[in-house]
Formats: sequence, C-alpha cells, structure tokens
Amino acid sequence: MRKNITILEQIKADIISQNICPDLAKQATNLVMGVGNTDADVMFIGEAPGKAEDEQAQPFVGAAGKILNRALIDNDFKREDVYITNIVKFRPPNNRDPLPEEKRAFWPFLLREIKAVSPKLIVPLGRHSMGYFLPNYSISTMHGKTRDVVITNGEVKQTIVVMPIYHPAATIYNQYLKGDFDKDFAKIKKIIKEIK
Ligand code: URA
Repeated sequence: MRKNITILEQIKADIISQNICPDLAKQATNLVMGVGNTDADVMFIGEAPGKAEDEQAQPFVGAAGKILNRALIDNDFKREDVYITNIVKFRPPNNRDPLPEEKRAFWPFLLREIKAVSPKLIVPLGRHSMGYFLPNYSISTMHGKTRDVVITNGEVKQTIVVMPIYHPAATIYNQYLKGDFDKDFAKIKKIIKEIK
C-alpha cells in the first residue's frame, strides 16, 4: 500500500514539474488528485474538478459528490475503500467541459494512476472519461455494460474490465438517468466478485 502511495505522490509531482495544462493550472486553486484506497477493487473516474473540488483539493465533494457518496452507501461501499479520481485534474474555468487537448494531456498520468492502483473494475463516470476507454461509443448505449479493455501504459499492457455509468451530475435533473445510474451502480459489487 505504501508503495502505491509513493507512486501517486510521484505522479502529482510530475504533473506539477511538467507544467501540465498551464492555463488551467493558473486559474485553479488546487491540483485535485485521486483519493481513496490505493489497493481498491474499483476505480471511479470523473471528468474534472468543479468549484467545491477545486477549493477542497478532493474529487467529488460537491453536488455530484453527494450523489456518488449516497450511491456508495446504498451499495455497501465505504468511500475510503474505493478509489475516486478524474481524468483532468485542474478545474476548467466556469465548469466548462474539459477540452480534448486537456484530456489528452492528463491521460498518461491517469494511466500511471491505473497501473498503481490496478483495480479489477474501472467505472468511468460519464462520457468524458468513458471516451478514452471506449471510443466510438455513446454513454447512452454503453452505460451499465462491461467490456474488457486493454490498457497500454508504455511497455505494460493490462486488461481491465470497464463499465461506464452516467455521470452523477447528469442525474440531478433527469429521473430517467437517475434510474439507470442506480441500476448500473447496483451491479458493481457482483461484477467485482465475478472477476478473478
Ligand atoms: N464532477 C467530476 O467529474 N469530478 C469531480 O470531481 C466533481 C464533479
């Protein structure tokens, strides 16, 4: 566990020293790294920090975080037992969508994070993080479905099960999406158990 924490600290140091997305960095209060169990079976990946996350330097602590936390509790997970991160680690101004070049710039660091945690299951939250694992699909067709995805990180190839679900924020005003989000979330425990 300590080893993973050191790797994650190194990833953070590299994002800073390599000056990743300087325009985003300039206007952000904090670099928001992943949190949780660095040995987790499941890794949730959102798009980018919002205002609350930027202020508190923690992913998913605002309105979307409340929905994610509720779903974790309802499905017998402790937030500290799972791993939660974002593809882009600085808040985009006015919560705009992360740009393709911002996602591209942070992708290698997310790959290193995945390699360090080595989860059994990756759950992309919404289309932005899903797009990197399952390009050419839409979240409306892929949510709640599992795929084996080969993740290439330098010389290392890992096959990891990926199941995208709707982004919690997308469910705030849409009860249909909330229904799908809840149903998909309820599958996570069973999927993890079935993966050797
Ligand atoms: N939305 C995200 O995608 N990530 C966060 O950390 C918060 C809101």
